[in-house]
Amino acid sequence: MTYVAPNSIQARDIASVVHPQTNLARHLEVGPQVIERGQGIYIWDDAGTQFLDAAAGLWCASLGYASERLAKVAYEQMRKLGYYHLYRGTTNEPGVELAEKLLSIAPVKMSKVLFQCSGSEANDTAIKLVWYYHSAIGKPHKRKIIGRNMGYHGSTSASISASGKPDMHADFGLPFSDFRHTEYPHYYRRHEDGESEEAFATRMADALEQLILTEGPDTVGGFIAEPVMGAGGGLIPPRTYWDKMQAVLRKYDILFIADEVICGFGRTGNMWGSITYDLKPDMISSAKALSAAMQPISALMVNEKIFSAMVDESKKLGNFAHGFTYAGHPVATAVALEVLRIYDEMDMVPHVQRVGAYMQQVLRRFADHPIIGDVRGVGLMCGMEMMKDNATRTPFDPVRKVGAVAEKHARANGLILRFIGDRMAFSPPLIITEAEVDDMAARLQKVLDATWSELRTN
Ligand SMILES: Cc1ncc(COP(=O)(O)O)c(C=O)c1O
Repeated sequence: MTYVAPNSIQARDIASVVHPQTNLARHLEVGPQVIERGQGIYIWDDAGTQFLDAAAGLWCASLGYASERLAKVAYEQMRKLGYYHLYRGTTNEPGVELAEKLLSIAPVKMSKVLFQCSGSEANDTAIKLVWYYHSAIGKPHKRKIIGRNMGYHGSTSASISASGKPDMHADFGLPFSDFRHTEYPHYYRRHEDGESEEAFATRMADALEQLILTEGPDTVGGFIAEPVMGAGGGLIPPRTYWDKMQAVLRKYDILFIADEVICGFGRTGNMWGSITYDLKPDMISSAKALSAAMQPISALMVNEKIFSAMVDESKKLGNFAHGFTYAGHPVATAVALEVLRIYDEMDMVPHVQRVGAYMQQVLRRFADHPIIGDVRGVGLMCGMEMMKDNATRTPFDPVRKVGAVAEKHARANGLILRFIGDRMAFSPPLIITEAEVDDMAARLQKVLDATWSELRTN
């Protein structure tokens, strides 16, 4: 039991707050870490300890942790129009301008934008639109949604149903019955000896096709996937994977939702993961770096095929009966617009390409470390797998909880990473510089050495 001073923020937190993705019983004993301030890619806790945040919070704080410029935009917008909704045909300028901007930078031709406040809501909306679309075109039985094992699309009931996260379904009675999950492309862990990336990708596409045939193609309406899997471990798709997967979707007339919540706005070295992997989605969900995480906002883009079906339905029903109170919130859209201007001014995409290439080169050097098996990344995103023996691809015994050991050493060395089992995911703020990549690598070296040393002694 950690000592928690009475009336401290820690004690008040324990008494009042339920934390997402936290062991609640343990939290009652150890309490929270209080984050007090941030600057650039660094944050400080209330003890004054500095951390380099190589996770950008939750893959989202693309411009770091404090911004005078964005604060001024929010302030001015609040003084002018601090709230209005988009219901019943009302609108406001920042919302329209942001929609126009998003359509102008979309990776494939998109028709319209629906705003929400989170990635979960954007994906939930996309799933509802798969159902709505198929009702509109007279195929209401085409309802099943296929996601991928280890895919993550949010915590609302439908978006988590589409996610392949059994730990997040457990005891919630989820996933809902219309959801299925196919194989996920973790080439390093799951390829057979001698199997090339291309052959592995064929196997993944065959598994998708087999699932569709088993379910009945007339019952499958949509497929949702992240261009690069984030919460699944920063998993880079193997060569030819996306070409083969998309060919299957086309063959069975299945709508494709690209979940760009992490990949959107530069993360993979292009404005969209869909550009990096030549995806042709029918809908694109985005959030996180859209506002540099400074405001809760998400945007779902839909193509003309979907939109015209929505128009037909609302003609029939008299209304498009869907919406959120804060969708298109003017303060959030004004901030997002300014964020997109900042991306333009800083030449964000070329910056990510340059610093991303450097980060990949620096992180790949750790492939020789005794506890590292695989290092694979794209842009400013990288997954690194800890393994007992790389040559034989033997993982550590799960009871050793190597990820938790490494996370403890990361905290002790002022480095924040995302740990997913024995995998570490890197997704630093997009503003990171080469010198800061070096700082990250120096801290990482200490983390891996300390983890290795602890594993050897125990
Ligand atoms: C790919 C992906 N989609 C959707 C979500 C859900 O977004 P939110 O937490 O904003 O609801 C996340 C969150 O991490 C995500 O990584």
